[in-house]
Amino acid sequence: MNDSLDLSREAFSDLLNKSSELILQKFSNLEEQKAYHYYPQKEIESWLDEPLPTDGMDDMELLQFVKEKVLDTATNNLGPYLYAYVHAGGTQMSIVADQLASTINQNTGKWHLSPVLSEMEKRVIQWAGQMIHYSSDPGGVLVSGGSAANLTGLTVARNIFFEKEEVRKKGLFGLKPFTAYASSEVHSCVDKSLDELGIGTDHLRKIAVNSDYTINIEALEEAIKSDIENGFTPFCIIGNAGTVNTGAIDDLEALAGLAKKYQLWFHIDGAYGGIAGSLDSIKRHYKGMELADSVAIDFHKWLYQPFEAGCLLVKDWEVLRRTYFKKASYLNDTIEATGRLDFNEHYFQLSRSGKALKIWMSIKSYGIDRIKQMIQKDIDLTRYLAKLIVASEDFELKSKSELSVVCFRYIKDLDSEDEINRFNKRLIPALEKDGRVFITGTTLNNQFVIRACLINHRMNEGTVEYLVKVIRDVASKLRVEEDAEASPA
Ligand SMILES: Cc1ncc(COP(=O)(O)O)c(C=O)c1O
Repeated sequence: MNDSLDLSREAFSDLLNKSSELILQKFSNLEEQKAYHYYPQKEIESWLDEPLPTDGMDDMELLQFVKEKVLDTATNNLGPYLYAYVHAGGTQMSIVADQLASTINQNTGKWHLSPVLSEMEKRVIQWAGQMIHYSSDPGGVLVSGGSAANLTGLTVARNIFFEKEEVRKKGLFGLKPFTAYASSEVHSCVDKSLDELGIGTDHLRKIAVNSDYTINIEALEEAIKSDIENGFTPFCIIGNAGTVNTGAIDDLEALAGLAKKYQLWFHIDGAYGGIAGSLDSIKRHYKGMELADSVAIDFHKWLYQPFEAGCLLVKDWEVLRRTYFKKASYLNDTIEATGRLDFNEHYFQLSRSGKALKIWMSIKSYGIDRIKQMIQKDIDLTRYLAKLIVASEDFELKSKSELSVVCFRYIKDLDSEDEINRFNKRLIPALEKDGRVFITGTTLNNQFVIRACLINHRMNEGTVEYLVKVIRDVASKLRVEEDAEASPA
């Protein structure tokens, strides 16, 4: 008898075949599947309400449960009707890669535990630097996502900027408060990062934006000067290469100029938009990216990878090592001794998964030109959506950008600002219940707007037209319901 958790070869093979069948089913009729499956929270909670199982269940029954309750009800990131947040559709090659990566179960924290995947991660880092025209030979690390990439970049910024003060050893005690600068549109993960780094969100100066939601450079310089006069130590500028709200790309060259003038660290949040800097059609908007000290990008956004796959790039490996290296007797053989690069010496985590495999296999399989075509398609489709909005009588366009976000509102027969805000706020949950498309909202200049983000290589003009049709349809139904509520028969 086999005294382990393993199945017989035959049973394992059945399980793999069945799970492959489930994967194939997810890909059939994608255009007919709903984007969102609305269930009350209590109902979903009840599906999982059981005590800790003492005995195992039949694996095929288990897979069937997972099919019905997890796969069939999942928010349909794969499908072409998902416009909410910044959610990509994944690639088929990554599905295969993730399964293979779990099979070999490598720990990429140390080179000798994962020789090939460590080298592969270095290669992916190099390709990323080249792809976005940042550096032909950067340092970097794969992390869980954009938030982690920004936290990592800002950790490096803090530890290198205050290295002479021995901040890693002594902490922040005794230092004058130091300040960071970003536009008011910066992602909340930057606030969280500064909070986590002990800098405090009071010391993140949120600078006003221009009408296109890019940072106002004059206001930024004023804020830096004023902080210096008031005894603060400015240390870092954070530029946006694609804001989450509208896809605005700050004037990165001007930010780099100010960082140089005041000798500050220059970090870029390119989690959403950084990878689109690879496109010849828009790379002029990213001028100055190559001057950043650190750049956060996110492969689970515009490289269409499944979660999780973020990345921090820096100009050289040394700053990562100076930020993170810690000697420990049980972690011998450092890069000096062996030439092997250990990621645990260049990042916080010791044990790490092999994220590089899915990214490397996707780039190898599709080629970067094909991936760039898909990014361009997303941008073109976003322009198409903006055109449909402008041409319509019932919607109003509120923002557009070089990237793939548009914000708009439903306005038909709504005659005051309050009324438009109120109705659009009600429209989002109504759309969620309908489920044919999944889209969310945000606030721009105190106005609630519907926000569509298109980063899914499975979308096309027809699916974009469908989005407009469904919103119009749900809005009309909501109007009828509201009218009925207002004057009950
Ligand atoms: C501009 C920007 N920065 C950071 C993040 C955070 O990335 P993640 O969700 O991968 O942590 C996002 C997420 O949408 C983003 O759009």
